[in-house]
Amino acid sequence: MPRQFFVGGNFKMNGTAQSISQIISNLNSAKLDESTEVVISPPSIFLVLARQLANGKIAVSAQNVFDKPNGAFTGELSVDQLKDAKIDWTLAGHSERRVILKEDDEFVARKTKAAIDGGLSVILCIGESLEEREAGKTIDVVTRQLNAVKDKLSPAEWSKVVIAYEPIWAIGTGKVATTEQAQEVHASIRKWLREKISPEAAENVRVIYGGSVSEKNCQELAKQPDVDGFLVGGASLKPAFVDIINARL
Ligand code: 13P
Repeated sequence: MPRQFFVGGNFKMNGTAQSISQIISNLNSAKLDESTEVVISPPSIFLVLARQLANGKIAVSAQNVFDKPNGAFTGELSVDQLKDAKIDWTLAGHSERRVILKEDDEFVARKTKAAIDGGLSVILCIGESLEEREAGKTIDVVTRQLNAVKDKLSPAEWSKVVIAYEPIWAIGTGKVATTEQAQEVHASIRKWLREKISPEAAENVRVIYGGSVSEKNCQELAKQPDVDGFLVGGASLKPAFVDIINARL
């Protein structure tokens, strides 16, 4: 079985009830590649709305979740609350949270484990800064980020993970990784999966690319053997998101 192509839309802290309803209405009526798994990730205040409006082919993801069960954690959302709201996915470790909110590898790994224990699937975001890339540390950084999660998950639990490789220097900059740069890191991630998790994980875990993906660059990226889809930021708010979902048609 080939890996199912996966396209996520990370709306980040954008949108209103009206604009998000419009985006979902467009997706509901568009002709989407049936073989692609589509997941949208609106701000938390619109998760329930998104789940109500999106058709059954479109999954909804939180952008974040806390690692503890319910309790005195002001401002956080629990895995159980997401499940109760019929939300099946969460992002974990987006670089904007790692960098701006100082989430470290260990915390991201704990969230990933808590989410999977509670029945969510996880889009696990990893990626290096420009400084790290220029210092030749890209593979070290993504491996370090993955190792923290490996320490928490059983090999079988990786079936609930989609790995999103998002080089920080490509996010929101219009500076997309070249197809060669993306393929090289994705292949290294797959090698890591084979050596550190299992041959099954290497075969089955989707490794998707994020960072300035657009309707213009998605087709070339989608041809790379280890690019199993995309995590789209800015373009997921636009009609062009449909073209990215349909990158392989
Ligand atoms: P952009 O597509 O806006 O570069 O954002 C990528 C991203 O961070 C998705 O999570």
